[in-house]
Amino acid sequence: MRVGVLLSGSGTNLQAILDGASQEGSGYEVAVVVSDRADAFGLERARSAGVPAVHVEPKAHENREDFNEVLADALREHRVELVCLAGFMRILAPNFIKAFEGRIINIHPALLPAFPGAHAVRDALEWGARVTGSTVHFADEEVDHGPILLQEAVPILPGDDEAALHERIKEVEHRLYPEAIRLIAAGRVKIEGRRVVIEPEE
Ligand code: GRF
Repeated sequence: MRVGVLLSGSGTNLQAILDGASQEGSGYEVAVVVSDRADAFGLERARSAGVPAVHVEPKAHENREDFNEVLADALREHRVELVCLAGFMRILAPNFIKAFEGRIINIHPALLPAFPGAHAVRDALEWGARVTGSTVHFADEEVDHGPILLQEAVPILPGDDEAALHERIKEVEHRLYPEAIRLIAAGRVKIEGRRVVIEPEE
């Protein structure tokens, strides 16, 4: 399965996805990495792995739809079958979601539907939650909203600050995200309304 990764930053999740792809029987390869930021370190990671790295500049496009169309074109050009959002800090427009309907997944650093949005780690800390975690879910037109594929809890420890907690969440993410992609590549994942069914291994 050909995977396209969208990111805006450091790309530690991309790295985990790349490392996962090279494991025997992964069933997937990273076909292209696309970023809205030219200086995203994730683009460097892609290049080091020999994967095409594309920057699409939002400001170079008239409006959000045009920018999203160019993003979609970059993925189509590389015959991407699954889109993985890995720290992509922009809200996708409906034309993009439609173009890859049911074939976009996102990783979010909280146990959705708790703490959606761009500051999920900080929000969980400030709320005084005892447990947060990581969620891999299908993306739909609402932010951090689509059907949930995988989740894992991470305890919040006394003395945690945002950086320390995010670090421990990322350790979980780096396991969860490649696992989610492997399941989809193996054809074991079905969306039934809000529920995601994971079929047992044959
Ligand atoms: C991750 O914590 C992910 O959950 C969130 O953005 C962060 C990206 O981190 N959506 P990285 O760039 O993969 O290190």
